[in-house]
Amino acid sequence: EKAGFKHFMAKEIAEQPVVIADALKHYIGTDGTSLNLPPEVDFATVDRITMVACGTASYACHVAKYWFEQIAGLPAEIDIASEFRYREPPLSPTSWALFVSQSGETADTLAALRYAKDHVAKTVSVVNVPTSSIARESDLSLPILAGVEVGVASTKAFTCQLTVLALLALKAAVDRGRLDAAGLATHLSALRNLPGLMNHALSLSQAIADIAEELAEAQDILFLGRGAMYPMALEGALKLKEISYIHAEGYASGELKHGPIALIDARVPVIVMAPRDALFEKTVSNMQEVMARHGKVLLISDAQGVAEAGSGTWATLTLPEAPPAFAPILYAVPAQLLAYHTAIAKGTDVDQPRNLAKSVTVE
Ligand code: M6R
Repeated sequence: EKAGFKHFMAKEIAEQPVVIADALKHYIGTDGTSLNLPPEVDFATVDRITMVACGTASYACHVAKYWFEQIAGLPAEIDIASEFRYREPPLSPTSWALFVSQSGETADTLAALRYAKDHVAKTVSVVNVPTSSIARESDLSLPILAGVEVGVASTKAFTCQLTVLALLALKAAVDRGRLDAAGLATHLSALRNLPGLMNHALSLSQAIADIAEELAEAQDILFLGRGAMYPMALEGALKLKEISYIHAEGYASGELKHGPIALIDARVPVIVMAPRDALFEKTVSNMQEVMARHGKVLLISDAQGVAEAGSGTWATLTLPEAPPAFAPILYAVPAQLLAYHTAIAKGTDVDQPRNLAKSVTVE
């Protein structure tokens, strides 16, 4: 069942290039340049979307907020389901609400969906289990096609959620007149290149295992990122604490000097997720503030980023250059492998971490 892997989590991390390629094949026309989404997915009259989820799925929404706003110019709100459901926020009747869930059975997300149903134009779910309650109760459900995910720590479901959300953001951009056929084709080609780039990231597994030997000694670890890499920092920290039980926090790089920098000393590893994009120099300057206080920096970037900013860091990981918009999907892989190998170094139960359930069906 584990297909030769030691753990389901390792197998599910390794499956990502294949399942993402499958999801792309399903939602992209055979010409490779057009979208193949159900006809009900039409954003022409939608003026806002609200995305609601829990845990890792909420971080997928957080990344997608950047895509909806930057690519489609569509205002997007995000919330975690346990807050949303009791806050009972006002929702516009011309808006859509999106619910993202691997299991489709998460109690808070289901309750949030039931609340939104009477308040928005359409409820849309992005789920892995097509027969689930959330899939059945939403007006429209889009499967992420990740296949069964057994590991409690979500990996391939996360990147497949991101993939489907990216395609939805592109559809919104087309429907709102923000993207012409050529622009769409360019984005779709960038997405179709991702599985190959992810294979490259997977080949860094041994280098990541070596870094993880030292991370396993830490008491606290910080993850930093800017833009859509900020939610990836949150996801990296969640994954690490779930399976290695090391205290980890993700922060937006720009928040560093508003508090967390007080934690930095030579014992605190700081993992900086920073592709060489438009925000790179800003993030690097935050990284240098960490190094000036003897923080141990692991810089995850591409070759150009590592060449420009790698000196003086504790360690670097070089990923292939990714299309800037969709880099978060690629950077999920090293974040997952760091958590996995750190947990292995600590000898914890990777697939069944203590206190956690795969599906949280009670609040
Ligand atoms: O099944 P769901 O996607 O609704 O589950 C949401 C969270 O419980 C889930 O993502 C959780 O945070 C994972 N253990 C993260 O690895």
